[in-house]
Amino acid sequence: MITKLRNLVWFLKRPHLMPQVWYLFIRKFRPGIVAMDSTGDEALRWCRQSEVDMVTAYRKLTNQEPPAPILDLYSDVFANAEKVTSACVVRMGGAGAVDMLYWISEYLQATRILETGVAYGWSSLAFLLSIEHRPEGKLVSVDMPYVGMNNDEHIGCAVPDSLRAQWTLLKTSDRQGVPAVLRKLGTLDICHYDSDKSYQGRMWAYPLLWNALRSGGIFVSDDIGDNVAFRDFCASLKIDPVVFKYNGKFVGMMTKP
Ligand SMILES: C[S@@+](CC[C@H](N)C(=O)[O-])C[C@H]1O[C@@H](n2cnc3c(N)ncnc32)[C@H](O)[C@@H]1O
Repeated sequence: MITKLRNLVWFLKRPHLMPQVWYLFIRKFRPGIVAMDSTGDEALRWCRQSEVDMVTAYRKLTNQEPPAPILDLYSDVFANAEKVTSACVVRMGGAGAVDMLYWISEYLQATRILETGVAYGWSSLAFLLSIEHRPEGKLVSVDMPYVGMNNDEHIGCAVPDSLRAQWTLLKTSDRQGVPAVLRKLGTLDICHYDSDKSYQGRMWAYPLLWNALRSGGIFVSDDIGDNVAFRDFCASLKIDPVVFKYNGKFVGMMTKP
């Protein structure tokens, strides 16, 4: 009860996030969809059936050999980001599959990328290191600060100032941010989903992001072993995704036909 009250106060201090409170409240009246959050075992079994290593995943998707790992290509940038994030006073979520994100951005020569979920900003850093060579390139990231924490100012701290010109960071929830970004950006080369991990959150956002992708664009979702949302979404599209493991978590990818 005390945590609930604390969280409510946290939201009241951030009135622009109040629609998220409404969404969380309404969720309580939909026990069926909330129960889908507990389908992790089934999701993990499904992921393991088609799991390949990351390099094989890249080859399957592109028919090409991947570039070098991003940490080898930009060791100074990552060493500096490591220093900044270690010194950060708040602890945030772990990194997405930065090598793969950089590789696919290079492969597509992407210029319009939307990602959900930033935390320290490792995935943002990977995309920005790729699009810095394309002046027209844009990354838009949507991230709601962690509920109950005061991490607002630290979101994206892994990204140095020198890479921020091509970056728009919206510190809001997916529900508010994603539709607004899609109206502005138009079609996308890459979508990376790494925010609301609930079944309901994913099943709301996945189709919106998928519809915004151009033909040949790449859809990536992190943590697909949390519940069966990614499996169900792929089944609804009749597409076999590429699945690989990164830092102990499963990542799913599909190219839009
Ligand atoms: C795992 S972290 C993202 C890590 C990041 N992609 C990286 O590679 O460093 C997940 C982030 O999603 C945010 N998040 C969770 N629920 C959200 C929601 N409904 N809308 C927007 N962001 C949300 C969390 O606050 C957190 O910052």
